[in-house]
Amino acid sequence: MAGTEPIDVVELGVGDAQAALVLSTEAGWNQNEADWRFFLAQGIVFGVRDGERLVATAALLPYSAGNAWISMVLVTADFRRRGIATTLVDTCLNLAKRRGLTSWLDATPAGATVYGPLGFMPTLQLRRLRLEKPQGTKATQQPSAGSPDALATRDSRAMGFDRSTLLSEFAARPGSRIVSGDRAMALVRDGRTARHIGPVLADRADQALKLVEAVVGSETAPWLIDAVFSQDEFLDGLVRAGWSIERPFQRMRFGPATASPAQLPFAVAGPEFG
Ligand SMILES: CC(C)(COP(=O)(O)OP(=O)(O)OC[C@H]1O[C@@H](n2cnc3c(N)ncnc32)[C@H](O)[C@@H]1OP(=O)(O)O)[C@@H](O)C(=O)NCCC(=O)NCCS
Repeated sequence: MAGTEPIDVVELGVGDAQAALVLSTEAGWNQNEADWRFFLAQGIVFGVRDGERLVATAALLPYSAGNAWISMVLVTADFRRRGIATTLVDTCLNLAKRRGLTSWLDATPAGATVYGPLGFMPTLQLRRLRLEKPQGTKATQQPSAGSPDALATRDSRAMGFDRSTLLSEFAARPGSRIVSGDRAMALVRDGRTARHIGPVLADRADQALKLVEAVVGSETAPWLIDAVFSQDEFLDGLVRAGWSIERPFQRMRFGPATASPAQLPFAVAGPEFG
């Protein structure tokens, strides 16, 4: 595909999971093949090919109550600045509009430069944190196992809509666990380079921090967590415990506001899932 050729957008299928994983790995992201399989099976993933080679992707993941998440916007390095990401996100937006869905996304700083001009409005901010080596001694007690239904109910209060399909798929993967303790709950799952903790749901920051501490003390690092920036007590507590801030994400919305959340999460399920 030469720089002057029209951008031919195709819909991808589950058979494209490995080629798509090459793109997210090139960007240094944490998604594994199971993540891509979920997007390709449950969402609509658009792509651009150069001959046989997949060079770009963008996914629209419909949720409940008129909401959808746009993510996995990736363009391989030698195909950037030709309008491919703009075309792919526009294709997702048009589909969302046809289906009457409000689109959300969590943008990297590079992504925000593409989405702002398309009409996305900023909402809350996130910070991705990484922990290479937990401080202190290894916990002797594992955190308690939490129930998938309780997690889905709390998550729905935090998002303003139900995501039980996503959460039950996460929970069913090998290596995943739902943990709970002292009015806090979290989901822990595998990633390509690090284990991921999120969503983290609790009434108070100290409860959320205690649960995260129990999780990281019961397994081997490295870890990733996507904390809500306005939960400053939680964020400060993570930094004090040795987590380092890797990058910001800006949550953005296109379309009318939908149901409003009753309680903010402390950490989200991941920028690609919200
Ligand atoms: C961000 C990314 C998807 C952009 O893809 P792209 O196909 O190059 O984007 P477009 O060509 O559609 O860019 C549209 C506009 O966005 C802005 N833009 C895009 N990338 C930019 C960058 N790195 N720096 C500054 N502005 C940028 C420019 O205004 C550009 O228009 P221009 O080229 O006419 O100046 C690509 O760089 C990428 O895959 N990055 C790594 C993964 C990532 O961060 N994805 C976004 C996740 S939210």
